[in-house]
This record gives sequence, C-alpha cells and structure tokens, in this order.
Amino acid sequence: MNVLVVGGAGYIGSHCVRQLQAAGHRPVVLDNLVFGHRKAVAPDIPFYDGDLGDPDVVAPILKDEKIDLVMHFAAFAYVGESVTEPRKYYENNFVATLRLLETMLDEGVNKFVFSSTCATYGEPETLPMVESLPQKPINPYGQTKLDVENCLKAFAHAYGLSFAAFRYFNAAGAAEDGSIGEDHDPETHLIPLVIDAATGRRENIKIFGTDYDTPDGTCLRDYVHVDDLARAHIAVFEKLAEPGASCFYNLGTGTPNSVREIINAVEEVTGKKVPVVEADRRPGDPPALYADSSKAQAELGWEIKFTDVKDIIATAWKWHEANPDGFGD
Ligand code: UFG
Repeated sequence: MNVLVVGGAGYIGSHCVRQLQAAGHRPVVLDNLVFGHRKAVAPDIPFYDGDLGDPDVVAPILKDEKIDLVMHFAAFAYVGESVTEPRKYYENNFVATLRLLETMLDEGVNKFVFSSTCATYGEPETLPMVESLPQKPINPYGQTKLDVENCLKAFAHAYGLSFAAFRYFNAAGAAEDGSIGEDHDPETHLIPLVIDAATGRRENIKIFGTDYDTPDGTCLRDYVHVDDLARAHIAVFEKLAEPGASCFYNLGTGTPNSVREIINAVEEVTGKKVPVVEADRRPGDPPALYADSSKAQAELGWEIKFTDVKDIIATAWKWHEANPDGFGD
C-alpha cells in the first residue's frame, strides 16, 4: 500500500515508516519539522515539508503519490503545556486533523490510522485498562485526542471512512539497529531523562512523587516498545478494507513498572549509577496506567516482541550512547 505518514519524522512516526518499508509497503512522509527531524527519515523515502492542515499541500500529495491510507502521528503531546496553552492543542491536534480528514474525503482516500492515547481515559476506574472504560480526559491534550476519536466515529458512520485509533501507553525504546531513536526538545519522558542522568548529561533524575498508593510509592506506567507500536499499525490494514470500519485498540504490554523500577533497570542496562532526587508529585499524573491489550492481540494478531522493560531500555541506551545529541539538529 502507498501510505502517507503524517508526522513521519517524529519519534513514533519515523519508526513506523521503517516498519512499513520492512513489511513491503511504500511510505511517503509529510512533516513540518516543528518537532520532527529530517534525519529520522531515510533519503530514499519521499519527503514533503508542510502542514497537515493545508489542503493545498495535502491534496496534491494524495493524488501524485496515489495514497491508499493515511497514518497521523503529528500532534503536540506536552500534557502540562496543553493546560496552559490549550489554543495550540485544539488548533494543531483537532482543527488541523479535521482539515486533513476533509482533504482525504475530498480526494477519495478513506483509510486512516490515528495515534490516540491512554490519556483519553483520564484516571481509570479499573486496571488493567480495557477499551470499554469510560473516557474522561483530565487535560486538553487527552481531550483533543478524544475529540478526534469521536469525529472519526461520526465520519465512519456518515461517509464510510475506515479507521483505527490506537490508544498508546508509554512509547519507549529505539530501533534495534540503533539507526533512529527518541529525540524530543524539550525532553520530558522518563526513560531518556534517566539515561541522561546515568551519563551525567543531567545532574539527577527527580522522582515526581514517592507517596502514591502503589507498591513502592512511585507511579506505575506501561512502557511499550516503539517498534511494537508500529507493527500494530500495519497489522490493522486488513480490518480497514471494510468500508466504515471503526476500530479502537489499547497498545501496551500490560506490565506495570514503577518509576523506581525504571531507574533500577537503567542502572542495570547501562552499568552506571543514577543520582536520584525525591520530589513532589507532578500535577495531573494518575498513580497507575497499564493496558489490557488482549483485544489488539486477538483481533489483529498483534505480538509484543519486547515484553521486558530492560530489553526496551537496552534499545534506548544503544541509540543514546551512540547519539548523545540525538539527531544533532
Ligand atoms: N517522571 C518522573 N520524573 C521525570 C519524568 C517523569 O518521576 O523527570 C514520572 C512521571 O511522574 C510518570 C512517569 O515518570 O509517573 C512517566 O512519565 P512520562 O512523562 O515519561 O510519561 P507520562 O506517563 O506522563 O505520559 C505519557 C506520554 C504522554 C501521554 C501520557 C498518557 O508521554 O504523551 O503518557 O498518560 F499523554
């Protein structure tokens, strides 16, 4: 299939581009490089620098590249910023996505894969989290993702759009060959920050809250390898052959790991000591989020290759050790 990967120069998008190529598909990338990295996309892949919300950019790509399916990874994803600057999040994550969908429908492209998030659930009532839990996001970031999910449902019903929305848990790790990896600016994610503390690039890692009602008092999260996430996006293609298909899947390993466990695992993998500072809770952090992904496994045959967080961290370490400045741009 010819697949337009919107946000294909970003962290999850760029890994998906490589998995698409490996599976024999033809990825084409659209990225405005606000957060993406040109070097994250191999030179042999068609690359367009532009905005997903601009029909004058998107329509010619859909036509010229004979696109069958669009994957959309291009969102702002800083939860705290979404609270202080919600306009940015509604504009980029919702309004621009709506424009993209309109352009697709106008051009007769009707298959869509969307990056959603476990943040659409807010604080879950039960664990592990299944897709049928109530969705009550607690910040504009999660709300804009949920708004797109609802828009997709209505478009599938009314216009025959076929879509899958994947609710990611904590994406982590890097390509196994070390060629691409995680490079955010600013970086807020736990694993790359702990690696930086291990290598001395930052003074320490602050643990945000040690008094949660969890086994060691720190938050539990479900860290899932970025290539496992990417493979689910390809495994869903068959489902999208049906007009109006409307699919939602949680993607996580189902194994909760605490902040302290991640720090210990980074020490083990890198062989380096991590200086730790115990700090206050970060506002808006639920104590525990982990997935029940049995639906994706049963319906898509999704297999989780990286079930041990140490193996995920080892791939992140391989990338960070060789590329301490990320893509260097
Ligand atoms: N943490 C620390 N210290 C740090 C950074 C993080 O203790 O310096 C803790 C957080 O409090 C949290 C855990 O590590 O308990 C993981 O934090 P991340 O920021 O890496 O990830 P989140 O779980 O907050 O967020 C991730 C994605 C978001 C998405 C969210 C859904 O990064 O985009 O999952 O809940 F919205």
